[in-house]
Amino acid sequence: MIRHLIDLFDLSPEDARDILDHALALKREDQRGNRPPYLAGRSLGLIFEKPSLRTRVSFEAAIGQLGGNAIFLRGQDVGIGVRESIADFARVLSQYVDVLAMRTFSHATIEELARYATIPIVNALSDRAHPCQALADLMTIQELRGGLDGIKLVFVGDGNNVARSLAQASALLGLEFVLASPPGFAFPPEFRARFEETFPGVPLVVEHDPIRAVSGADVVYTDVWTSMGQEHEAEDRRKAFEPFQVDTALLDRAGPDAILLHCLPARRGEEVTSAVLDGPRSAVILQAANRLHLQKALLLWLVLGSWPDVLTPNASARLHSRD
Ligand code: CP
Ligand code: NVA
Repeated sequence: MIRHLIDLFDLSPEDARDILDHALALKREDQRGNRPPYLAGRSLGLIFEKPSLRTRVSFEAAIGQLGGNAIFLRGQDVGIGVRESIADFARVLSQYVDVLAMRTFSHATIEELARYATIPIVNALSDRAHPCQALADLMTIQELRGGLDGIKLVFVGDGNNVARSLAQASALLGLEFVLASPPGFAFPPEFRARFEETFPGVPLVVEHDPIRAVSGADVVYTDVWTSMGQEHEAEDRRKAFEPFQVDTALLDRAGPDAILLHCLPARRGEEVTSAVLDGPRSAVILQAANRLHLQKALLLWLVLGSWPDVLTPNASARLHSRD
């Protein structure tokens, strides 16, 4: 069976836990100077229809550190669905590379790609989901807080791709998730329906008052008000989201120990102030760094379908206990 990562709706809690634990183990090994070439000779294809810094570079570095290589193509270079059908594209590319990550405007493109591909497909961001980001973010929370159970994660802003993947990741791993957004910018009904069907009994909480929402939060998270592809709505969005800026006053409502996360890139002075982003509660650079370790675990899970023995969390703990 081929594994894909299109949307966190498709991941089991056990798989999510496993990927996180192994990402943390890979990070520890890396810090000890160990970069075993678990994916020697394997190739990762990267097709990006939108700009990227973190996702592209962390994937390229991840496959390189695992002994494999990356082949990067811009969307317009290959004309997926334009120069040739998605089905032909998927069938042909499956002959050349072992795993393919795609960043696209339409989530449906990735779903169709996965239908025809004979290799694992990764969603490197679509209009609906950013699963690699959300898994890396929970890894960061786990690293900073020592666990995830009972953590309250409040996303202040648009019910966008990042917010949706974080809501799913939270449901998978036992966090309390709250979205604070202006009316009209929360989750669309089809997302809510799929969430309720996948995670019965898990509340999908939406607040319209950011101050009330962040009360008791362990983590306050924000993202741009206007995502890539929505630039024509930027002016209207700026007005609607103005009361939702994460500034020092709002973060103070969450408490002195609250962590500030942002997937980046940030629009300083819009969704977040520089004082907060560069302040002592901000963990955004560690958060960006963890994208690399999470991508490594994800690539192992997708391509090998099993974990190298040395990386099983217990084996890793044993390795460390000898230090
Ligand atoms: N957070 C994130 O996905 O960043 P990039 O758009 O730079 O990849
Ligand atoms: N919501 C943002 C995330 C960028 C990493 C976007 O889709 O543009």
